[in-house]
Amino acid sequence: MVGHGHGEKIEAGTTFARETLNGRGCEYNYNDEYFHDFLQFAAQCGGTVADLGCAYGASTKRLLDAGATKVIANDICKEHLDIFYDSLNEMEKKRVQCIPGDALELEKYIPAGSLAGIIAASWLNFLTPEQIKAVFGVFYNLLQPGGKLCILAASCYSDLMESQHAQDVVAKRKAAGDQWPGLWNKAELYKGPFAHHLPDFMHCLDPDVLSREATARGFKVDKAGHFDFGSVFQALKVDGREWTGIIATKPK
Ligand SMILES: C[S@@+](CC[C@H](N)C(=O)[O-])C[C@H]1O[C@@H](n2cnc3c(N)ncnc32)[C@H](O)[C@@H]1O
Repeated sequence: MVGHGHGEKIEAGTTFARETLNGRGCEYNYNDEYFHDFLQFAAQCGGTVADLGCAYGASTKRLLDAGATKVIANDICKEHLDIFYDSLNEMEKKRVQCIPGDALELEKYIPAGSLAGIIAASWLNFLTPEQIKAVFGVFYNLLQPGGKLCILAASCYSDLMESQHAQDVVAKRKAAGDQWPGLWNKAELYKGPFAHHLPDFMHCLDPDVLSREATARGFKVDKAGHFDFGSVFQALKVDGREWTGIIATKPK
């Protein structure tokens, strides 16, 4: 582990996990097909893309480096955004707008229909079912027709649900047709080593749940599936289904 003064960074070869300042998990350096699809889209779409819940902006910086015209960086923790902004050079700063605050309230600050793309990586896991329904409405309203949404989220097969007990609970919920089988609480379902930077409540999200909610809000799902988090951060590898990725389009 390497202390960087601003959130501990756990280095692992070319990848890393950097702890957030507000106990909301880690920032990662994604390497999956969903992130790469969005990166490619952001580079060529010519419009504004938003990285919501971006933490210290590692992915936001990759969007800039790929050639995105303008990038909005949002996080509920303003200190994360300050660290990101300070890390940019003057040319990069001209292409970035930082908007601190709860992403669920961004309709107050970003005009409806103004975004070409939105990426929301690894924070829908902190939302209740009602908030997940609401956030899909926010994504939909902020995107322009034809706009792309990319969501990455810890699944029901992530390290959060690694114990046999947690897997039994999930299997039972799924068999019973539970709409939200990934509701998680630390005391009952988590036995792993990262408890100190996770909240008491979380919500593991599988591709079928995110696809259902995206479709219910009017999105067309381009693709959705589990991906192997081992390539992102080996210590969180379980069985290759650790994370969920989804790319969806707001119809024209
Ligand atoms: C696990 S980190 C992920 C950071 C980055 N998106 C990534 O995937 O590398 C979650 C981040 O989402 C932010 N966050 C959580 N809930 C949020 C919300 N409702 N609105 C905006 N940001 C939020 C946290 O402050 C934290 O920085």
